[in-house]
Amino acid sequence: MPTTSTDLIAQLERLGGEFAAAIAPLADEQSIRAAQAQYLGKKGQVSDVMKELGRLPPAERPLVGQAANKVKDTIALAVEERLGALAAGRRAADLARAVDLTLPGRPVGGGHLHLLTQVRLELVEIFAEIGFAVAEGPQVETDWHTFEALAIPKDHPARDMQDTFYVADEIVLRTHTSPVQLRTRQTHTPPRRIVAPGVVYRRDDDATHSPMFTQIEGLVVDEGVRVSDLKGVLLHFVNRFYARLTGGAGLDVRLRPSYFPFVEPGVEIDMSCGFCRGAGCRLCKGSGWIEIGGAGMVDPDVFAQVGIDSERYTGFAFGMGIERMAMLRHGVNDIKYYYEGDLRFLDQF
Ligand code: DAH
Repeated sequence: MPTTSTDLIAQLERLGGEFAAAIAPLADEQSIRAAQAQYLGKKGQVSDVMKELGRLPPAERPLVGQAANKVKDTIALAVEERLGALAAGRRAADLARAVDLTLPGRPVGGGHLHLLTQVRLELVEIFAEIGFAVAEGPQVETDWHTFEALAIPKDHPARDMQDTFYVADEIVLRTHTSPVQLRTRQTHTPPRRIVAPGVVYRRDDDATHSPMFTQIEGLVVDEGVRVSDLKGVLLHFVNRFYARLTGGAGLDVRLRPSYFPFVEPGVEIDMSCGFCRGAGCRLCKGSGWIEIGGAGMVDPDVFAQVGIDSERYTGFAFGMGIERMAMLRHGVNDIKYYYEGDLRFLDQF
């Protein structure tokens, strides 16, 4: 049967009419585009019709071409309309969904000071209440300030107590905050009441020791300073710092004779155990007392090193480990927790 232009135009118009119905049930862009390709693509139905074009007399071909263009436009329009309708449907559904604008927002996690920083600031405050100022010294320190001037010469056995990191021949990472005692005495004349919190270093590493840790040093130099003043200051400190632990019961301080080369007499500071109230527990190893640091009356020889007249002035000094104090108060059982940066630990404080 010979193909006529009327036939072809009719076929094309039928395809145009069919298309809208074909995509009406389709609900996503991907299947609509697939249907579009089925009609308009190289192997699509419109192309199939156009393949017949060659069999028409040339004069009739433009008419069919126009009809084909019209079908393409019709199909393109139908695609746009269908996609538009789908988008409008989604928008309407979004708007119809109940949104409770009064719900509180999700909290944004905030940071806070590290436990050790909190404790250090608290210590400074506790000592400030009784007239202490804050002093600082370098962490990379001379051997002289760290040892020699504190009556710990090179061959002194006390050097073994503090395994030292050497930076150079006469330069060390300070092993304690005691050199700050000398630095303040070099720059300030008595009377003087300072605390020096800061980082110190020792070649030491286990559950209660870290190669880097923090200490707080105290120093009072004035006329007529006595051991009882030292004890009074320490009583103030332990009772403020551990107040929450004892529920107001009050802690006692005991000075146990000991030896540090730069003080005479030298003592070990014990506080009564606030955990068992003296009954004996794991923390005080059953003794009822917990050691928290060292102290003593400044040795006149040390005063002489920095030109302070020991006939006129006396003084006391003390040194304590901040990690240990916080471990006791907050029940931290490994010093590493402080430095690992694990939020599960840090967030508790
Ligand atoms: N510097 C000592 C240490 O780190 C602690 C110490 C003991 C400090 C006695 C003092 C003191 O000021 O008088 O082991």
